[in-house]
Amino acid sequence: MTDSKYLPNLYGRRVDKPLRARPAQLMSELLPTIAAPDPDDGPVDPVALFPDVTEFWFEIGFGGGEHLAWQAEKNPSVGMIGAESFVNGVAKLVTKIDDQGLQNIRIHFGDARPLLEALPDGSLSKLFVLHPDPWPKKRHHKRRMISPWFFAEATRVLRPGGELRVASDIPDYIGWTLMHARHASGLEWTAQCAADWKAQPADWPETRYAAKAAREGRTPAYLVFRRL
Ligand SMILES: C[S@@+](CC[C@H](N)C(=O)[O-])C[C@H]1O[C@@H](n2cnc3c(N)ncnc32)[C@H](O)[C@@H]1O
Repeated sequence: MTDSKYLPNLYGRRVDKPLRARPAQLMSELLPTIAAPDPDDGPVDPVALFPDVTEFWFEIGFGGGEHLAWQAEKNPSVGMIGAESFVNGVAKLVTKIDDQGLQNIRIHFGDARPLLEALPDGSLSKLFVLHPDPWPKKRHHKRRMISPWFFAEATRVLRPGGELRVASDIPDYIGWTLMHARHASGLEWTAQCAADWKAQPADWPETRYAAKAAREGRTPAYLVFRRL
């Protein structure tokens, strides 16, 4: 575990509209059965969370869970952990899990950062941060998920050869991510040419924020970093 260097406050919306009856019921009945352990109680070993999987992936800030549910369905031998602090997003994912009968997802409803710190070294094969909140004002840059702390933790939790995937449709945030990646000695950006980060990979489904960016004429960058 690296020293915590993130701002302890959690910024951004926690709740939007009141939940409808079914998502509300799933939040109180299904969520407790698939919740990841509270990282405040100590280290979280993914091996103990899933009966029969071969690797573990973690998505931070999964929004409505479009990407996470898609990956879980396509990769049944992977244990997918997702963290999201926005109640309406978590409610969407638990509804998808129930609708699709997905068995290989565990959810942390709350701040992803203590959970990231609670995971063992080299325990993940993939880590995703897709369209993180951009916090465009300079005085808010310290709230950004991508930071030296984040790259140190990503390097620590990924196994050698593991992947960190970051998407953003905000040019300043793309530059910010690449700037911090340059100082992260344990991870290398895999892109060899522009097509490698401009073209959406086949195993990278569109999230709600990617769709919003497309509607508003912004093109996402698909950044893949490999753990050395
Ligand atoms: C701009 S949205 C993107 C959502 C989704 N990844 C997508 O591409 O549609 C960023 C999400 O990250 C979540 N988030 C921000 N900081 C977080 C944190 N520290 N822990 C967990 N979730 C966080 C927000 O609640 C929000 O749902």
